[in-house]
Amino acid sequence: MSVVARGRGQRKLCDIRGAGSGGRWCERGCGQSRSVFEISVFENFGRAMRAPAALQTAIPMEVIIRDSAEAGCVLGAKILASVIREKPAAVIGLATGRTPLRLYQELIRLHREDGLDFSQVTTFNLDEYVGLAGTHGQSYRYFMQENLFRHINIDLTRTHVPNGIASDLHVECRAYEEKIIAAGGIDLQLLGLGRNGHIGFNEPTGSLRSRTWIKILSEQTLRDNSDVFGSMDLMPKHALTMGVGTILDARRCLLLAFGPAKVRAVEHMVEGPLAAICPGSALQLHPRATVILDENSAAGLRYADHYRWIDRNKFAWQRHG
Ligand code: GLP
Repeated sequence: MSVVARGRGQRKLCDIRGAGSGGRWCERGCGQSRSVFEISVFENFGRAMRAPAALQTAIPMEVIIRDSAEAGCVLGAKILASVIREKPAAVIGLATGRTPLRLYQELIRLHREDGLDFSQVTTFNLDEYVGLAGTHGQSYRYFMQENLFRHINIDLTRTHVPNGIASDLHVECRAYEEKIIAAGGIDLQLLGLGRNGHIGFNEPTGSLRSRTWIKILSEQTLRDNSDVFGSMDLMPKHALTMGVGTILDARRCLLLAFGPAKVRAVEHMVEGPLAAICPGSALQLHPRATVILDENSAAGLRYADHYRWIDRNKFAWQRHG
């Protein structure tokens, strides 16, 4: 277990480039030091996928606070759409749960009214319940089909959700990792945040270097997600999920968290120590993570005014609109 705060102040902005290319935080070659911890973590996470470029472009976690979940979802959809417009064959990591529903509606609107084209996009969902076939009404494959895929022009053969009824779940997990690598890695991973700080189905105290695997759901998560199943007893207790290491390998992460139930998890994820008790805190290590909150979920943040200040003073090329 690691309990170490990330030393954001150790990085210096050493090269601001022109419009569209984004600022570059230099990790090497400009004289500043990184902690031994930071070096070892960056260089050990997901060796298979880690592109050297990602090491050279780490920027601080971007925290954006909007008035409402509605506004946050519209902004999230805009960011995701911009990735697809820039790279039509983008590989997008998708999430389920209540949080991204409005974002998916906005993507559907952008597809219908603004020509957002999904025909070359590949997707990988974070997780799936063990024991549920894709046709089951509570499976995440079904969720994606109903809430996004059937409304857009995506090629279903390019959409991936772990198979919760695979005959060998271990093989399924390894194959999922291989498929992500074969697709060229994930360009942007969309994430929600569990009330207990989980991302995907990576529950507290799990390894921050984990890969896609079979996880036992916590009682808190069972309680939080059981409403759609009718009761906790009817709910699967296990899931296949991308690991925290898998998530950190994405080139960008975009996490949404709204509402008062997420206050503590958000506080720990953004400002708490990097610790396996809050898997979301691993995003502090990510070279390009954006977190979109509403006023309710941001209520516990000590530096909320600082994030608002940063947001107001961004360069034009840093704004998402
Ligand atoms: C679920 C999912 C997560 C999701 C989280 C939050 O368990 N596995 O990917 O982010 O819980 O759910 P919600 O958005 O409904 O609050």
